[in-house]
Amino acid sequence: MKISVIGAGNVGATLAMRIVESNMADVVLVDILDGLAKGKAVDISDAAPILGHEKNIEGTTDISKIKDSDVVVMTAGLARKPGMSRDDLIGKNAAIIGAVAQAIRINCPKAIVVVVTNPLDVMTYHMIKITGFSKNKVLGMAGTLDSSRLINILAEQLNVERKSIETIVLACHGDTMVPVLSATKVNGRPLYEVLPKEKIEEVINKTKFRGSEIVEYLKTGSAYYSTSAGVLQILNAIKNDTDQILPVSAYLDGEYEIKECCLGVPVKIGRNGINEIVEITLTAEERAALQESAQKTIEMIRVLS
Ligand code: APR
Repeated sequence: MKISVIGAGNVGATLAMRIVESNMADVVLVDILDGLAKGKAVDISDAAPILGHEKNIEGTTDISKIKDSDVVVMTAGLARKPGMSRDDLIGKNAAIIGAVAQAIRINCPKAIVVVVTNPLDVMTYHMIKITGFSKNKVLGMAGTLDSSRLINILAEQLNVERKSIETIVLACHGDTMVPVLSATKVNGRPLYEVLPKEKIEEVINKTKFRGSEIVEYLKTGSAYYSTSAGVLQILNAIKNDTDQILPVSAYLDGEYEIKECCLGVPVKIGRNGINEIVEITLTAEERAALQESAQKTIEMIRVLS
């Protein structure tokens, strides 16, 4: 399997490292800045004898090296600085997506594309439009990360093991994200039974603003360790053709009564990308929140087109 990672910044380089170190695939790491991808690739590669893997990683400024990739992960673009929302990145990142999407279309027309660049759902939509790829081949990574954040924060709050928590976070990667509380369980018990309502609200708020919290600490960029882990989970499902249900940003054509929009929903993922969009049961309140999040995303998509 060949995976290309576009952008050798914090997210891209960390992801490239995770891919080779988990023996998943050979990697081509591309960045527009001269020497950045090459330097990081050589550095990551030099650790292989210590860590004991045999995967190769090549760093380059030449995007045609992505030729015949099975998967392309798009991380190139600006990251947030303190005080910025993900939506503030829209104009500049759309231009970067546009250029990279053309290169993907030409060099690897059969690839699955995983978008990480923010604002995530709008950029995923833009990638589909510019590549012209079918909707099952392009998806955005956010829900795996948001769900992981929610689990982590809940586990800390409840002082339980992370693996005892089951949950899923849907909708837009931003403050309109929708944690599906009706499907959230702790050791098999509904969350409502183990945590008071006000505490649940606190946990949700913390999850929604976890990304901003990290931006405030870092001051010069945004999250990347957890972000790259969220992508790795998706790549694993693709590589091993697991058909696992994961929340990703997918193009909706009537599912959940939403059209012409990419939004975080549960999907079955395998070797061909999205095999199926899964319509889980939501409460009326959750469904309304999903619709509202879609509406905001559609408005942003309109700004772009
Ligand atoms: N082609 C290739 N690389 C590019 C291009 C391009 N057209 N334009 C920009 N880049 C590169 C930059 O040179 C930089 O090295 O993308 C990299 C981005 O790296 P960082 O600034 O470290 O940003 P990062 O933290 O990796 O975030 C990237 O992921 O989570 C999102 O919001 C985040 O949109 C941001 C993206």
